[in-house]
Amino acid sequence: MRRFDLRVVVASVLVLAVHAAAAPDFGMPVSEEELAAVDIDIAPDGRGLPPGSGTVADGIDIYMEKCVACHGPRGQGAAGGPALAGGMGSLNTPKAQKTVGSYWPHATTLFDYIRRAMPYDKPMTLSNDETYALTATVLWFSGIVRPTDVMNATTLPKVQMPNRDGFVDAWTPGHE
Ligand code: HEC
Repeated sequence: MRRFDLRVVVASVLVLAVHAAAAPDFGMPVSEEELAAVDIDIAPDGRGLPPGSGTVADGIDIYMEKCVACHGPRGQGAAGGPALAGGMGSLNTPKAQKTVGSYWPHATTLFDYIRRAMPYDKPMTLSNDETYALTATVLWFSGIVRPTDVMNATTLPKVQMPNRDGFVDAWTPGHE
């Protein structure tokens, strides 16, 4: 009798387990606001760039406060972080130096990277205006934009990066 009872109990538990697996009741609905906070990716063509803007002049002050310690006053690199400029024309030499200026194919993804990952010790703390301004400043270190150029969702996708054609374009329709 004891033995039989045990089997019934085991069978009941199994039925419950199967039922639970068929109809999981995990998590909770996500609000638009919560979704927007994590939906921050910027595509190479600029899709996802938020409102806001900034110039080199705006960015220099922020850079000197939040970035210079690790990347050096002109983005040449320092003990805490890599060079952001330099290495132009070095890619097909034995001493290739890959920086934002010499290597990156898109300026748009620079905005994504800075907003998402920098400052290294305080990621996701920059406003959109600050990020546009810092993006302008980092591009200016490599002479890619002028000090007065305004970076925003319209202008940033139009910036031509020097190594643009060093990559296969998987983003422009019809371009193999
Ligand atoms: C505490 C040090 C530190 C600070 C402060 C810092 N960075 Fe960085 N940064 C790094 C390190 C380390 C890396 C390399 C990270 C990696 O490769 O995973 C990096 C990488 C980068 C890169 C990518 C370089 C490449 O070619 O891959 C950019 C752009 C950048 N930082 C911009 C900034 C900006 C703008 C600021 C200021 C808002 C900033 N960083 C502040 C340490 C720092």
